[in-house]
Amino acid sequence: MEKRQAILIGPFAQVVTMDNLPLKGKLSDSELEVLGGGQWILLEDELISTIGPYKRLKKDAESVDLEIVHLTRGAVCLPGFVDCHTHICYGGSRANDYAARNNGLSYLEIAEQGGGIWDTVTQTRKATAKSLEHDTIMRAERHLAEGVTTMEVKSGYGLSVNEELIMLRAIANANQKTQADLISTCLAAHILPKDFQGTQQEYLCKIHQELLPKVLSQNLSKRVDIFIEKGAFDRTNSLDYLNKAKGLGFDVTIHADQFSIGGSKLAVEIGAVSADHLEASKGRDIEELAKSDVVAVALPGASMGLGMAFAPARKLLDAGACLAIASDWNPGSAPMGDLLMQAAVLGASEKLSNAEVLAGITYRAAAALSLADRGKICRGFLADLAIFPCQHFNEILYHQGKLKPHKIVKKGKLLGAI
Ligand code: NIG
Ligand code: FE
Repeated sequence: MEKRQAILIGPFAQVVTMDNLPLKGKLSDSELEVLGGGQWILLEDELISTIGPYKRLKKDAESVDLEIVHLTRGAVCLPGFVDCHTHICYGGSRANDYAARNNGLSYLEIAEQGGGIWDTVTQTRKATAKSLEHDTIMRAERHLAEGVTTMEVKSGYGLSVNEELIMLRAIANANQKTQADLISTCLAAHILPKDFQGTQQEYLCKIHQELLPKVLSQNLSKRVDIFIEKGAFDRTNSLDYLNKAKGLGFDVTIHADQFSIGGSKLAVEIGAVSADHLEASKGRDIEELAKSDVVAVALPGASMGLGMAFAPARKLLDAGACLAIASDWNPGSAPMGDLLMQAAVLGASEKLSNAEVLAGITYRAAAALSLADRGKICRGFLADLAIFPCQHFNEILYHQGKLKPHKIVKKGKLLGAI
């Protein structure tokens, strides 16, 4: 019989497990479980087995094929990060939009003039399927090297049945070829495509009837997203579409309350897994989100890219919401794509504890993707680790993204130079 593969890695100055923390609400740093004193971690196959002193773990691993990874300098171990909202499959660039915004035009004005998302649709449709796949892999690998071991990836720049399928297949192929986990989401309801002759309702009806069944039968995604906003989709049509998507078995998520309110309310009504953006959310929206099981996802990268206020992360946590933080990496509103940097800056601006920020990019972000097997360092969880060259976990957010992990473990494999 083949021996099981195991890695014994350590010693760690600290292992921040993110275990035994609530899914919702505020967190203080003193609640974090921080295992100090030179702990080691035993990883068996794809999973975390045991955390403890070297001698005991070495003994536990007698019957397995063991590789020992001895870290020679101080190291802090965190769960691999989860970025629960990205649009990293796209063609072209929107550097001109960025310049135009900084010269005074708004995101919505640029869209009205034919730029914005539609510009990326045009550039993505021109790209070959191979280049979309390749560019997605390149961006995913950059994220992985920065500690993001799982990332969501949306379609939404195809905006026809065929072009959306091309995007979703490119994401699926990319997922096969990178060690990062890519979780795809169908965002065919990003905006009403300019070349569609018909109403919002007719477009959504077509997507529901002609695209979503193929997405399911070809196993391309289990998640559906929609952008509810002026210039995108209204509440009534969105409600109908999302209900139908749920009826087909999809999890639903919403680009909500980015510039105007309404989307997060609908997310609560419909039982979405998450409501993302929330820059415009006010008292009532915050309270409703907090009472619900909808994960509230802040996207600081979009606020930075657009030069706008952050989502009210502090208020959401104080009200009792589950707050995740994601990069929204996309060519328009959020071209930077540095999750750790953005999460750290949101923390400083919104006065979030380190525990709240780290929860937002680990187990709470995993919850936004309905993934219960990652985001914590505990027995039976996926062995996804981000290991930082420092002695104390406070160093990580203090450096606001400039201190990157020097070792990454994905599903029990120590990654080489990425
Ligand atoms: O999350 N707001 C809608 N969608 C994306 C932006 C997409 C784009 O501008 O290309 C967002 O900000
Ligand atoms: Fe987005």
